[in-house]
Amino acid sequence: MNSHIIEVAPGAPQKLARAWLWMGLMALIGSGLLAILLVLSRTPGIQDVFPLKGFFRAALVVHVDLSVAIWFMAFAAVIWSALGRAAHAWLGWAGLGLAALGTALMTVSPFLPGAEPVLNNYIPVLQQPFFHASLWICGAGFALAVLRALLTTWPRPAFGAPLQTGAFLGAVAAFLALGAFIWSFLIVPRSPEIEDKLYFEVLFWGGGHTLQFQHALLMVVAWLWIGSALGKGMDDTPRALSAMFWIAALPLLVVPAIYLTIPAGELPHMELFAKLMIWGHPYMAPLILAGLLALWAVRGAPASGAKSAFVASFVLFATGGVLGYMIQGANVVIPAHYHGSTVGVTLAFMGLAYVLLPRLGYGEVDGAMARWQPYVYGGGQLIHILGLAWSGGYGVQRKVAGAEQALTTLPQKIGMGMMGAGGLIAVIGGIMFVLVLLRLMLKKRG
Ligand code: HEM
Repeated sequence: MNSHIIEVAPGAPQKLARAWLWMGLMALIGSGLLAILLVLSRTPGIQDVFPLKGFFRAALVVHVDLSVAIWFMAFAAVIWSALGRAAHAWLGWAGLGLAALGTALMTVSPFLPGAEPVLNNYIPVLQQPFFHASLWICGAGFALAVLRALLTTWPRPAFGAPLQTGAFLGAVAAFLALGAFIWSFLIVPRSPEIEDKLYFEVLFWGGGHTLQFQHALLMVVAWLWIGSALGKGMDDTPRALSAMFWIAALPLLVVPAIYLTIPAGELPHMELFAKLMIWGHPYMAPLILAGLLALWAVRGAPASGAKSAFVASFVLFATGGVLGYMIQGANVVIPAHYHGSTVGVTLAFMGLAYVLLPRLGYGEVDGAMARWQPYVYGGGQLIHILGLAWSGGYGVQRKVAGAEQALTTLPQKIGMGMMGAGGLIAVIGGIMFVLVLLRLMLKKRG
């Protein structure tokens, strides 16, 4: 077993990675706090007395956007900054400034007048000018970060630097997703006859599906980086790993092809993107296998937060993948799949954060809290998604709270009880992550 420590270059790479990590952490805190409201509004018994369930829909909008949009994009920028060259730093700082401003506006907008929630998929919205402005400002900020990533992570050589290749192809997916959002905005008609939910569903459909490739590619970058920090270097297979990243990104070529052949908003356009998930994600299989082999290779490594995160991430992502193929109808099996996959990605990013802190000038991550945090977060989420999947099997609907859930049968109540218990355990795991990071990030750097 050869070890290969991947350092982060001083100057812009370290400084920008630190700044984006702060931003990502703030978004994760916001999303986690809102998750408490969501869980308590849907837990049998508690739902009847929980005073804030009236905010469920607005909280769901901001929970999803702070987690899937902001946390994921901010951590992607951590990876792009850490693996990228030092050039064009101004693009990074301008992007960060705009994204931070947009996120602050997004977070306060539910408390401003006229915040009518629209629960479409991918990027749900609050029908309110402040919130719309926050989306445009965030979009502009992340577009600058993606542009810098394309300019600074281009792998040299193209088949010799697997992490750079994964990071670069993640940026390509982000670029295509942002392009899809703008293309849909320009051509999807906005008229009073079309109800808001349908309009925003169509608007974010293409880009939302494309972003999933970014998240999955960067999750494997995080797995391999953690593996290398734990002793499983990539020196013996750099070309094979790079090739696997290029193969996994091949389905992205379909994105512009769909837009060029079938206008956004037409049913076949929506169906083709749904099919792109079913037929496109299997191209990730060689990379997922490489991740499993790396996990197996580090099984003997000493216990650490990074190792626990690698294990928990793989288990959650695999479970989410299986649940994805079990979706039938619009019930809570869908959020079960979402949380398996997105929390699998989140745990990989948490583990990489543990590896990166000392390479960004902060202290070494150690201690029982860091070692156990991923198992508490991942274990809680596993109970949460199994509760959602079980309840979905008994017809419990998604995105409704309190009495509106109509939980009448014992199996439904048991399932949603599991959802509640698991969700709260996961929130505790989330708080542990924030405490481990803040304790080191608030300390004066060496
Ligand atoms: C402490 C961890 C978390 C808990 C307890 C939690 C809890 C919840 C709950 C209860 C819902 C509402 C489900 C419904 O009513 O249909 C929800 C929705 C959602 N959450 Fe989370 N969540 C957590 C973390 C995350 C993370 C890290 C992500 C992504 C990075 C995420 C993405 C989503 C998405 C996309 C939805 C919408 C689901 C749908 O459209 O059906 N969540 N979450």
